[in-house]
Amino acid sequence: MINLTLLGATGSIGQSTLSVVDLHPQTFNVFALSANTNWQRMLSLCEKYQPSFAVMTDEVAAEQLSQRLQNDTTVLSGAKALETIASHTYTDQVMAAIVGAAGMASSLAAAKAGKRIMLANKESLVLAGDIFMQAVKDNNAELIPVDSEHSAIFQCLQGGVSGLNKIQLTASGGPFLHTPLSKLTSITPDQACAHPNWSMGRKISVDSATMMNKGLEVIEAHYLFNLPAEKIDVVMHPQSIIHSSVYFDDGSTLSQMGNPDMRTVISYAMSYPDRISSGVPALNLTKNSPLEFYPPDFNKFSCLRLAFEALKQGGSAMGTINAANEVAVASFLDEKIKFLDIAKIIEKTLEISNHFYPTCLSEVIENDRTARLIASKLIQFYV
Ligand SMILES: NC(=O)c1ccc[n+]([C@@H]2O[C@H](COP(=O)([O-])OP(=O)(O)OC[C@H]3O[C@@H](n4cnc5c(N)ncnc54)[C@H](OP(=O)(O)O)[C@@H]3O)[C@@H](O)[C@H]2O)c1
Repeated sequence: MINLTLLGATGSIGQSTLSVVDLHPQTFNVFALSANTNWQRMLSLCEKYQPSFAVMTDEVAAEQLSQRLQNDTTVLSGAKALETIASHTYTDQVMAAIVGAAGMASSLAAAKAGKRIMLANKESLVLAGDIFMQAVKDNNAELIPVDSEHSAIFQCLQGGVSGLNKIQLTASGGPFLHTPLSKLTSITPDQACAHPNWSMGRKISVDSATMMNKGLEVIEAHYLFNLPAEKIDVVMHPQSIIHSSVYFDDGSTLSQMGNPDMRTVISYAMSYPDRISSGVPALNLTKNSPLEFYPPDFNKFSCLRLAFEALKQGGSAMGTINAANEVAVASFLDEKIKFLDIAKIIEKTLEISNHFYPTCLSEVIENDRTARLIASKLIQFYV
């Protein structure tokens, strides 16, 4: 049995992971689960999966859970407890699916403990890519991407990187691919969260609508595949059938295709190098044609442009845009700022922030804190 620790169990990736576990009860044992505040959902997960540990980072939620739980699951609370379960001796695989910078320390703990890390939390690489990749290397950890684009590239590169010319991430363009810039001023949170192809949490859905998600993925790809910004390309592909491609010097292009469903990516990460059933139906190409492709509009999707700029600057710039984005998206979801203000706040935060090269996690965290403060102050001008 493979012992699985699932960080972010109550989220969208968490739910898809557990549905893959349900298909393979003889192979995977749910060893530990985590959530932030949603103790009600955690209670039902604990009753179903009987994990050894359940972590609620929120202490009040942990109290609520432990008062109601009537099995042998140990309830822990606080952010440090995430690191405890991620690095636990009995943990074999860690699904890192906490949203945002809150997921960084636990992903790093899993890397330092030499685990198989199935990384959905792209922020771990965006904020602390150098530190994280070094920890993976130093501790012989196994890093498997859990993002459809990076999994696609990872799969296409199983034959090696000889003659690799560039990688190309596909982007659906979210709900506003064909919406003119002038119409984006009045977008509501519900409109921004209505992704045409993927069902995801609200934060990442807004990131898809602004294309900051693709920008963060470009940075993630830089670290995962050790490539400079110039070798990473983005193409708009509204059907989300081709998940990404790799281009070789001999003129060959390899792409990975499938229905847009994260269970394929998740099951691959859990079973790699083998493949197991995921519950996702086989692709029917005739029902999905024609497949369309467009170049990205960097003027309309300025978050994508900003992410490329931050990657080229390197160092703290990537953490700065991530922090500013998290603050701005939360304000947008609270209807305090407008959709197009998100990019403006990120750009201004990047402009004002100190640029440096973090050498340890505490510097990364300090940069994240400062950028959040700057972004929060800037938001006051918009409300
Ligand atoms: N969804 C997708 O299709 C998809 C695809 C590729 C990559 N990703 C990445 O996967 C990650 C998770 O995305 P998601 O869509 O599953 O997000 P989600 O549905 O919003 O779920 C987030 C999970 O993180 C927990 N959480 C939130 N804040 C936390 C905190 N401060 N400390 C500890 N735990 C916290 C939540 O717990 P509560 O429920 O208690 O709040 C929940 O379990 C993100 O980094 C996202 O970019 C997602």
